[in-house]
Amino acid sequence: MKISFAELALPRSGAVVVGVWEEPALTASARRLDEATGGAISRAVAAAPRFHGKKNELIALIGPPNLPLSRIVVAGLGKPDKVDQRLLQDLGGNLVAHLNGAGESEATFSIDLGDAAPLKPADAAAHLAFGAELRSYRFDKYRTKQKPEQKPSLTGITVASDTPGAAKEAHRALSTTAQAVFFTRDLVSEPANTLYPETLAAEAAKLTEFGLSVEILDEDRMAELGMGALLGVGQGSVRPPRVVVIEHRGGAVGSPPLGFIGKGVTFDTGGISIKPAAGMGDMKWDMAGAGVVIGLMRLLGARRAKVNAVGIVGLVENMPSGNAQRPGDIVRSMSGQTIEVLNTDAEGRLVLADVLWYCQDRFKPKLMIDLATLTGAVIVALGHENAGLFANNDQLADRLIAAGKAVGEHLWRLPMGDGYDRAIDSDAADVKNIAGDRGAGSTIGAQFLKRFVNNVPWAHLDIAGVAWSKKDAPTVPKGATAFGVRLLDRFVAEHYEKG
Ligand code: BES
Ligand code: MN
Ligand code: ZN
Repeated sequence: MKISFAELALPRSGAVVVGVWEEPALTASARRLDEATGGAISRAVAAAPRFHGKKNELIALIGPPNLPLSRIVVAGLGKPDKVDQRLLQDLGGNLVAHLNGAGESEATFSIDLGDAAPLKPADAAAHLAFGAELRSYRFDKYRTKQKPEQKPSLTGITVASDTPGAAKEAHRALSTTAQAVFFTRDLVSEPANTLYPETLAAEAAKLTEFGLSVEILDEDRMAELGMGALLGVGQGSVRPPRVVVIEHRGGAVGSPPLGFIGKGVTFDTGGISIKPAAGMGDMKWDMAGAGVVIGLMRLLGARRAKVNAVGIVGLVENMPSGNAQRPGDIVRSMSGQTIEVLNTDAEGRLVLADVLWYCQDRFKPKLMIDLATLTGAVIVALGHENAGLFANNDQLADRLIAAGKAVGEHLWRLPMGDGYDRAIDSDAADVKNIAGDRGAGSTIGAQFLKRFVNNVPWAHLDIAGVAWSKKDAPTVPKGATAFGVRLLDRFVAEHYEKG
């Protein structure tokens, strides 16, 4: 979908969108169009008793008389003082879905909020465009037989405002974000027969294009480093594991980097503790944490973020085979701690144990944040509305929650504590990878990770419930969400680039 910017003017073709404040009260461009159509908009608004101009409300007028337009969409904006970036993004996304549903091919979004809204006109236009762009994402490279009506009809939008030049400029930065989000969504959507540790590492290697340095550790190197926990997970697969280290150096020379760590299980069968057949296909997206870290690093590189950061992803395929790890096996992690693997399906924590340790050992990071589709239990606790957040540092937790709120990727902090930690003491080794009973599954996973984190501020985002969506949201079409890319980019920009 092509996105252009223009001055506010009556378009000569396609669909046109105008805004209405809650009350309802027409914006200036809605008023002008109302006059040009002999009052068609006011009549339509008056005739729609359930339209109040609130956010997410739309009414459509098809083929307005005496104008060469295919459709007029009247979009509710809510109260002027409540209009913010998120509302405009959602509006942009909702409009794209609506216009595609209607079969429109081109549309002009007129955005004139006047002085009432606490937002610069250029920003408003740019965020409307950003939301539209985010919603336009599709993963259809494997759909070879789509009928025309199954494809999106909308090929281009024009965002019309008072300040098209500044809007275009403001959108350029947001579009860089959208491209990184799409990169992550593509990686997470790709099936496991084509996306496995080596091919995912090869995708990450392409980030050198954005000024990042990328290093790939193979099995021999991992064995030298003593990464027995990660290697144990991968040993049942014919696809050899990889660790990818992506560095961005945009901050002061020698200043410790921010560390971002991702679980990259390219397919999780459960291993010998095999999963049931129903829904197992979902486990192609068990590398979403890694996908988000890779997309985030791409974004930091592309926008030349003034910060040092390192992204490290542990890539393995968890398969049952004659060579697979067995329940009861004891492995030695890079930290030196031995782990009793009582359930081979609790594999993400084994991968992260070595990658977390490697990150702090080699880079002495300022902080570490890991992302992982770690537990089904986090879906039981939080559903698909919030990711689970665990942290050993309150300030870090609060900053992440605030960044999430700002971009619409919500986190909910869950508890940790010594009592939970005792549940993973093993009789045979230093730690076991599952607790004996069923409770607090996500906390147990976090508690396991914490054993591999020393005195560094650390947060763990359990994204099992939010990495993939079964239904459309305004700026996130169903499928891979890339949850975390925007959140962490915001977190970095807000706290680590301002001097
Ligand atoms: N990748 C799964 C968690 C998962 C489940 C992600 C559903 C997305 C959707 C993880 O490796 C796993 O299997 N966890 C187990 C842990 C258990 C064995 C302690 C789980 O949640 O059942
Ligand atoms: Mn598993
Ligand atoms: Zn898994």
